[in-house]
Amino acid sequence: MSDSAATGEDRFPTGNPPHTRGSAFEGKTFYIKTFGCQMNVHDSERMAGLLTAEGGNPVSEPAAADIILVNTCTIRDKADQKALSDLGRIRQVRKEGPGTILAVTGCMAQREGEEIFRLVPDVDLILGPSQIRNLIPLLDAASTSRACVDGTLWPVPEMTTPPAIRPPGVTAFVTVQEGCDKACAYCVVPATRGAERSRPVTDIVREVENLVSSGFREITLLGQNVNGYGQKGDTAGASFPELLQRLSDIPGLLRLRFTTSHPMDMSEDLIDVMATSSRVMPHLHLPVQSGSDRMLERMQRGYSLDDYRRWIEKLRKKVPEAALTTDLIVGFCGETEEDFEKTLAAVEEFRFDGAFAFIYSPRPSTPAHSWEDVPPREMSVERLERLQKKVEQQAMERNQSLVGSRVEILTEKWDPETRTAVGRTPQFQTVRALVAPERPDPSPGDLLWVTITQGARAGLKGNAVSHA
Ligand code: SAH
Ligand code: SF4
Ligand code: F3S
Repeated sequence: MSDSAATGEDRFPTGNPPHTRGSAFEGKTFYIKTFGCQMNVHDSERMAGLLTAEGGNPVSEPAAADIILVNTCTIRDKADQKALSDLGRIRQVRKEGPGTILAVTGCMAQREGEEIFRLVPDVDLILGPSQIRNLIPLLDAASTSRACVDGTLWPVPEMTTPPAIRPPGVTAFVTVQEGCDKACAYCVVPATRGAERSRPVTDIVREVENLVSSGFREITLLGQNVNGYGQKGDTAGASFPELLQRLSDIPGLLRLRFTTSHPMDMSEDLIDVMATSSRVMPHLHLPVQSGSDRMLERMQRGYSLDDYRRWIEKLRKKVPEAALTTDLIVGFCGETEEDFEKTLAAVEEFRFDGAFAFIYSPRPSTPAHSWEDVPPREMSVERLERLQKKVEQQAMERNQSLVGSRVEILTEKWDPETRTAVGRTPQFQTVRALVAPERPDPSPGDLLWVTITQGARAGLKGNAVSHA
């Protein structure tokens, strides 16, 4: 999973969605701002679902909201700074008066806890991801007295799965696994999301069936280590490859994706299901983090570059068309020029189709926080630039090599004025396709065959040739 999917935006449809019962929140307006990874995006959808079920109405401006939720990320220092600066802006425009609530949710809320009251004095409620299921009673209580429920309730026996309200569309996120037991030396996620746990397979199948019957065509399964699904405890009732197989059989579901996978949780069965199921898309996001074994060891990643290489060889043998994307960290403790060059060499070797690269950011209460050999900032900035340049150049070359080929896209948007359909290839590349006036208009959810005419760094352009 990448936090680079961060929207920082309000994604909820405004209006008056149906609700099931009246409550203290009947008719109240709410605004949710989301930072961080897809998991947080989906948590916001769940919180919107809970508020809507109580009769709340989403609005797109914080100034118009009775209830404001700022769903934060804390993966790097920059994420904290973004959330705090947004809170600073929001507190200036928030409505005053009894019953209005400013709540901070998400991973920063979990990690900082009451410290947030000191940093942003007019916050009324702080709640961590483990507390989402209690959102409504907690908001209720916060309307009379301020509260902090960052909750050290780990391990949570079951995953929180309140009904989500998603923006209407073709693709939907479904969380299947949460938490992390891996303990990488640099990472706050185990502290903010708790121990690894998985949702029961029957629960997931039911949710996906419902989504498909309400028009969604592509589902992205989410988890901190999604391919570790079902490994911890016996509550899941299936392994990850089995889950993919079960979901593949749901009629009407066209595409299944999943993110983020961990190299330690890879299996032959997962590669086999990617090879055999036409619904499971040929795209693996598998963070390698570094090309240097010395760094991988200090990061406590649990694999060597050679272990990673073996999985990629297996993937490419059985799913030759698969796209491979990754996450990379530069400037980790003790990283030398030689270590960094090994990362560059790994990028060259694996020909990643895309990579999110980050400068290491020391996080409080992680093992690496006290390590003193962090390379100088200017050095890391320079390494990040070199790395990004290489990744971009490779992506550009790959996109250009697709010119003239035919790809199948799942239409997500259709603009009749410019007659442009926007969708993604099975490998997750965005394509803007022109549809000739004599061709039938596509609708979101349609599969279209497109001949690629142009490949740029950011995506592909082409001409639609037929409906699939
Ligand atoms: N569970 C996934 C990643 C989740 S966090 C995995 O292990 O692969 C998303 C990405 O953020 C990580 O892959 C890593 O590249 C980056 N990241 C996490 N902590 C970081 C830190 N302290 N500084 C910089 N990048 C970090
Ligand atoms: Fe963080 Fe490592 Fe867990 Fe990924 S596997 S969430 S990087 S601790
Ligand atoms: Fe996601 Fe950020 Fe939390 S990346 S899991 S929202 S720390």
